[in-house]
Amino acid sequence: MNYPYQLKTLEDYQKAYQQSVQDPEAFWASVAENFTWQKKWDKVLDWNFTEPKVEWFKGAQLNITENCLDRHLATRGHEPAIIWESNDPEEHHRVLSYNELHFKVQQFANVLLNNGVQKGDRVCIYMGMIPELSIATLACARIGAIHSVIFGGFSAQAIADRLDDAGAEFIVTCDGAFRGAKDIPLKSVIDDALVGNKTIKRVIVCTRTRTPVSMLKGRDVWWEDEIKQVETMGNPAVAPVAMDAEDILFILYTSGSTGKPKGVVHTTAGYMVWTNYTFVNVFQYQPGQVHFCTADIGWITGHSYIIYGPLSAGATTLMFEGVPTWPDAGRFWEIVEKYKVDILYTAPTAIRSLMSFGLGPIKGKDLSSLKVLGSVGEPINEEAWHWYNEQIGHKRCPIVDTWWQTETGGVMISNLAGITPAKPSYATLPLPGIQPCLVDENGQEIEGNGVNGNLCIKFPWPGIIRSTYNDHERCKQTYFSTYENLYFTGDGCLRDEEGLYRITGRVDDVLNVSGHRIGTAEVENAINMHAGVIESAVVGFPHDIKGQGIFAYVIIEDTHGDEKRSKQDILQTVARIIGPIAKPDQILFVPGLPKTRSGKIMRRILRKIAEGDTSNLGDTSTLLDPSLVDVIIGLNND
Ligand code: WTA
Repeated sequence: MNYPYQLKTLEDYQKAYQQSVQDPEAFWASVAENFTWQKKWDKVLDWNFTEPKVEWFKGAQLNITENCLDRHLATRGHEPAIIWESNDPEEHHRVLSYNELHFKVQQFANVLLNNGVQKGDRVCIYMGMIPELSIATLACARIGAIHSVIFGGFSAQAIADRLDDAGAEFIVTCDGAFRGAKDIPLKSVIDDALVGNKTIKRVIVCTRTRTPVSMLKGRDVWWEDEIKQVETMGNPAVAPVAMDAEDILFILYTSGSTGKPKGVVHTTAGYMVWTNYTFVNVFQYQPGQVHFCTADIGWITGHSYIIYGPLSAGATTLMFEGVPTWPDAGRFWEIVEKYKVDILYTAPTAIRSLMSFGLGPIKGKDLSSLKVLGSVGEPINEEAWHWYNEQIGHKRCPIVDTWWQTETGGVMISNLAGITPAKPSYATLPLPGIQPCLVDENGQEIEGNGVNGNLCIKFPWPGIIRSTYNDHERCKQTYFSTYENLYFTGDGCLRDEEGLYRITGRVDDVLNVSGHRIGTAEVENAINMHAGVIESAVVGFPHDIKGQGIFAYVIIEDTHGDEKRSKQDILQTVARIIGPIAKPDQILFVPGLPKTRSGKIMRRILRKIAEGDTSNLGDTSTLLDPSLVDVIIGLNND
C-alpha cells in the first residue's frame, strides 16, 4: 500500500494545509480517490452549522470493511492485520493475517445475519480486548448494522441506559474479561442490565474466561456454537453491503455536562477518510510497521487507531488485553521488544503511572524498534513528556501530542511525526482541513498570537460528529449553539507567540480522569441516588497520576456515626450506577453547599478548596451563606 497523500516535509504540510482551506472540496476529493468506492460521490461537501447538517461525499456508496480488508488481500493477504497479546504473558499470542481477518469477519457477519440482524439495527458490543471484539465490530460494519461499543468498565445501569437510548436489539459479549489480576464478569453484568429490558432479542456470548454464566433459553447463544452453524453452512461469503456515505457507522456514548451520556454518531465515508488520513500522516506510518495503540476499543481512540485507521491503511495493529502495570510495570516494554513495535500510542496517565515505578521495569528491554511515540486523551505535562522522550524514545523518536475528541472522529491538532515541529505540552498545529479559532466569552474571535480562549472550529472536516443519536437537537445545543456558526469543543486553549496550540483543559463541567471523560453531573446523579444523600457537588482536582481526580462534596442525612462506612457505601453506589471509573477519590460530608442567591452552586470555590488553595477564593459576597465556606474549609482540613 502506498499513501500518495502522506505528507513528507514541512513544505508538504504547509501546502496541503493551504489547499485544504482554499478549496476543501478539491482537497478531500483528491484524498478520497485513494479508497474503494462502490459508487463515487455526487458532491464532496454540503453543510451548515445552524441545523447542523454536514454531508461528505454525498451520493457515494461504499463499505468500510471493503476498504479495511478486501482491498488489501491481493497485496497483503498474508501480512498480519491484528497481533493480539494476552493479559497473561504466559499465554500464547495470536496473529490474524488480512486473509484470516477477512474470513473471520464474514463468518461472524453470517452469525449476525443468522440471528436476524439487519442493516441499520443497533448492536451493542460489550467485550474485553480480544480479537473477537474487532471481528464483531467489523462484522457489524460488513452488513451495515450500527455498532455501539461499550467500555468493559461500565456498570449494568450505565449499559441499560445506553441500550435503551440506542434502541439496541442485539448484544455481543463475553463470559468475562481478564484485566490485570481481575476477572470481570461481563455476561453477568449484561444479565443485570437486561432485567426488565424488552428490546433485546439476542445475546451472543464469546468464551474467554470460562467463568460460569447463566444462559437464557431463546435469548442467549454461544459465539462458538453459532460459528459451528456457519461452518455447516459452508462458510458462505458475505459481500460488503453498500452503505450510503452518510449512513451511520457507529454510535459511541460519551459524557457531557448533563447527567445523560450522549450517543455520538459517526457516519461511513467521512469517518473512514478522516481516520485513515490522520493515521497515515500523524504517525507517518510506513508499510510493514507495527502500530501499538494501548487504548481500549470501548473508547474512540480504540475505534479510530486500533481498528479503522490502521486497517484501512493495511497496517499491522497490535491489540493488548491487559493493563500496563500487571504482572509488573514492564509490560508495555516487554510487548515493544517482543513484537518490535514501531509506533507506540498511549495516554499521559499511563506514562505518569509507569514513571512512578522508576527505571527498573525498563532496564534490559530492547526499545530500539520504536520510531514514533504518541500521546492522547489529556494534556501531557512537561515532566511526563521529557520522561517519555528520554527513557522510552531515547531522544530519537518524535512524540506526537494528539488533541482530538470522540466528536471529532480523529486527530485534529497535532504535530506530524518528524515532519512538523514538536513542543512539549503543545499539540502544536492543526491538521489539513482543520480551521481552529479561539473565542472569548461573547463569541468574539480572538485574533493574533500569544492569546487564550475557548477552542472552536470554523469549518467541517470529514470526521466531524453528525448528530447525537435520536436527539439531533442535543447535538445542536451542545456543540453548535454556544457560538454562532462554530463547532465548540468545550476545551480552553492557548495560542503561543509562534501560533502553536496548547490545550489547557475543559472549560465545561466535564472531568478528564485518567484520560476518561466523566461528567460531574453524571457522578452527582449517581451519588444522589444513594439512600440518605440530600445533595452533592462534584469537582475535579489535580491528581499526580490520573491528571484529574474526583472530589465530591456530599450532604447526607445521617452517617450513623460511621463516616468511613458511609463513604464506602457511596462509592459502591457510584460503581453500581456508572462503573468503578467514576468513583470519587475524595468524599467530604458537608452541612451545605455554597450557593448564590439564585441557587447556583459556586463550583469555582469548591474547586479551589479541593485543590487545597484557599488563599484567594475571590468574591464570596454573592453567596447566600458566605460563612459556609469557612465551615467547609475547616472540615476539609480535619
Ligand atoms: C482532552 C479522546 C490535551 C480534551 C481522544 C478533549 C486532550 C477530551 C488531548 C476528549 C491532548 C484529548 N491534549 N487534552 N492531546 N487529547 N484531550 O472524547 O479535553 O475521550 O476535549 O477523546 O480529552 O476526550 P475523548
